[in-house]
Amino acid sequence: MYSLKGAGTKGSGTAHWERKATAMPNNETIFTMEATPLKYGPGASEEAGWELKQMGVGRVMLVSDPGVVKANITGRIVELIEAEGVEVEVWDRSRVEPTDDSFQAAADFAVDGDFEGFVAVGGGSSIDTAKVSDLIATHGGEIIDYVNAPVGGGKKPPGPLKPLLAIPTTAGTGAEATTVAILDIPEQHVKTGISHQYLRPDRGVVDPLLTLSMPPEVTSSCGLDVVCHAAESYISKPYDARPKPESPDDRPPYQGANPIADMWSARALEYGGKYLRRAVENGEDVEARGAMMLGASLAGVGFGSAGVHIPHACAYPIAGLKHEWQPPGYPDDHPFVPHGWSVIVTAPAAFRFTYEADPDRHHSVAELLTGEKVEKADENTLPGILIRLMRDVGAPKGVRELGYSEDDIGDLVEGAIKQQRLLVGAPREVGEVDLANIIRESMENW
Ligand SMILES: [Fe+2]
Repeated sequence: MYSLKGAGTKGSGTAHWERKATAMPNNETIFTMEATPLKYGPGASEEAGWELKQMGVGRVMLVSDPGVVKANITGRIVELIEAEGVEVEVWDRSRVEPTDDSFQAAADFAVDGDFEGFVAVGGGSSIDTAKVSDLIATHGGEIIDYVNAPVGGGKKPPGPLKPLLAIPTTAGTGAEATTVAILDIPEQHVKTGISHQYLRPDRGVVDPLLTLSMPPEVTSSCGLDVVCHAAESYISKPYDARPKPESPDDRPPYQGANPIADMWSARALEYGGKYLRRAVENGEDVEARGAMMLGASLAGVGFGSAGVHIPHACAYPIAGLKHEWQPPGYPDDHPFVPHGWSVIVTAPAAFRFTYEADPDRHHSVAELLTGEKVEKADENTLPGILIRLMRDVGAPKGVRELGYSEDDIGDLVEGAIKQQRLLVGAPREVGEVDLANIIRESMENW
């Protein structure tokens, strides 16, 4: 398998790749790197209309949510698009943490409207809603047919979708760069997704000025999601540690750690470690906002290639099982656990568990986050660094604070173990007992 020497350590020079003699003859030898063309910078969203015109669409559905409308962002983008002669119809009912029903309502609007293209203006929820609306409007069918098996039918979209321009207004999911759309299925108490390369937006416009009004709590949750995307990707099972697929069709979208994904993840870790505290502390800090916004996209490309695993697998039931917690700083129309916080709470214990699979990579993540050489590192070093960051940015203490107790561990494990698509990417095999231990250790992180 390939391994990494010295990457991320300040002053250590270039990373060296080497193949170990342990590579198996029937193992994967190929990895891919795909990314959304991005336009980044303060003021970039002023060019949204121009971008859309370049994409050759005359009539679009713009997907947004009430909070972004209230922040006067959606209206401004509509004006810019119309100024270029492109007709826009706005769907502003995206729900934070979408459900199958909220996706369906948007998809119905998309089918009725027969649009030429799509624009998403909002957080990951709006971007994911646009992806699914585009999928159903282009190819028809039921949403559940496309949802990942075993929850849904696992059907692949038969061809490319209509053009989609993504304009994120949070610095978190990296949804502008990824091939997934995440949804909650309340009836089954499960959160899952639709994933296929055709879901990747055609272009992204990433403008940190759109995030200036984001409350500190939202900044915290989104930023910790970025850190987890990058850390999980960097610590995922290497791409050449799994069997070669029979056909390119069967190559998973989450391929495992590879040299290209590592570069994107490493830079996102540096930004997260250096700028997240500042962005939470002072929302007007444009430099910190910019680094987190760019970090979200960088991490999106990294995890879009390598993949996330244990913390994200645990996050699905943590967010999906109980709907009792009303998060501070978020719209108070329904209780829920914000995605980034649902992920970060189990990250310290998850990385303590994965440590033995590749201590060097865990050390590298610790060094990238702190920007310093870490002396005498062990399995508690990276968890300790993550816990300090969580405390500093006001994250929940652990799973208990989100409404769970030891009595819920069985149900949480049942939800997490269903996420095999993610768990196969963990660098160490993880079973139900391991997940139970990780969740138990994550009840209170400090
Ligand atoms: Fe995430």
